[in-house]
Amino acid sequence: MPADRALADDFDLTRLPESFYDDPYPTYRALRELAPVKRLADGGVFLSRYADVVAVYKDTATFSSDKHEEFFPKYGASPLFEHHTTSLVFNDPPLHTRVRRLIAGALTPRHVAAMEPRLIERVDGLLDAIAARGRGAAIDLVGAFASAIPVEIIGNLLAVPKEERAPLRDWSLAILGALEPVLGEAERERGNRAVREFCLYLEGLVARRRAAPGDPEVDVLTRLIAGEGGESLSAAELLHNCIFLLNAGHETTTNLIGNGLACLLEWPEQKARLIAEPALVKSAVEEFLRFESSNQLGNRITTGATEIGGVALAPRTSVTIGIGAANRDPEAFADPDRLDIGRMPNRHVAFGSGIHQCVGMGLARLEGRVAIGRFLARFPDYCLAAPPVRARRARFRGHSRLLVVADPVLPASTPLETSS
Ligand code: HEM
Repeated sequence: MPADRALADDFDLTRLPESFYDDPYPTYRALRELAPVKRLADGGVFLSRYADVVAVYKDTATFSSDKHEEFFPKYGASPLFEHHTTSLVFNDPPLHTRVRRLIAGALTPRHVAAMEPRLIERVDGLLDAIAARGRGAAIDLVGAFASAIPVEIIGNLLAVPKEERAPLRDWSLAILGALEPVLGEAERERGNRAVREFCLYLEGLVARRRAAPGDPEVDVLTRLIAGEGGESLSAAELLHNCIFLLNAGHETTTNLIGNGLACLLEWPEQKARLIAEPALVKSAVEEFLRFESSNQLGNRITTGATEIGGVALAPRTSVTIGIGAANRDPEAFADPDRLDIGRMPNRHVAFGSGIHQCVGMGLARLEGRVAIGRFLARFPDYCLAAPPVRARRARFRGHSRLLVVADPVLPASTPLETSS
């Protein structure tokens, strides 16, 4: 189709049209069909097919996560550069392996299961607060619900005192916002300031934790400070990986919850199905992750000459992994543009794949299940109060505002029908 041809030809991550932020999927479809290894203006490529994406994730020798070379022109010598190039996700082994081992040890399925009671308590507290606003009241699901849950959970993981958590979300948004394909001067400054303030805060927290260590079984900060098997992190590695951990679990999980609840409003028969069969929440969360992946893009760089999907790549080629595009590939998912909360199998790549696959995925899934499942059980009739507002971000897909009425006043006819 000529329209698809234009979408594929014109695709440029640095000049995305407004319509892309609302709905990137027609562009992803055009790319998969017409230019699955799309050459970008900066010499890099964008991958949109599932098979190519998985192949890149698996081949860590050829497709490196190290970002020193790529980020220097973007950030210069700055706090943002130091932060992003020191975090485990943007490094290869051995730094990656050392940090990952320390974090993963505190996020085993056993540890995640132990977090459930406090999570339920927090979610129910938020639901009580929403109910207290009264029937018919409009609330922003992102601000009043979705974003409040991960702040609490990751705060608990690093044992950040409750009264000190307020700035975490804004720091996180500013630092991750600086990863967008295009970065304005204001965003760069905001990101750098956030890294500086975050480091300063964490230096104090680390000093306090060194003086009074927590339980290394559950307190990730104590684990990271102590190290393991004779290996420990440098001061900078420690701070930046704590920041990364706090960031990694915030916006992504907020968006999983917001995207999931918004999807159900767009697909009322799936909403009714989930209300009728609450046990489906597990597969529903997988489907929300696939259908509206909260992290849409990944990045790698080639370490040598190679080939992907039949296209030759020179050494040092920047590769953008289209997670959201791969998750809608009809070669991997039947009827991919249909939301099916019972979809099985559902081998999406929303958490990536291979050695960097999300360490927090068990926790994110638990947060998604508890938040979405309990919200729906409490407010089955929730509905939109205004059109959802998408955050203008290509990498992290979510809403900046999702105004709903949680407990609407039902039409006048309903009580008569039920009472008769
Ligand atoms: C819906 C929520 C989440 C999504 C969609 C998500 C997505 C991802 C993706 C795609 C990666 C791989 C990046 C790459 O290979 O380049 C990743 C890595 C990572 N995630 Fe998540 N994440 C989520 C929640 C969390 C949470 C809650 C935590 C922490 C508690 C977390 C911690 C991490 C860490 C530490 C890594 C780096 C792993 C490594 O490099 O080995 N994530 N995440």
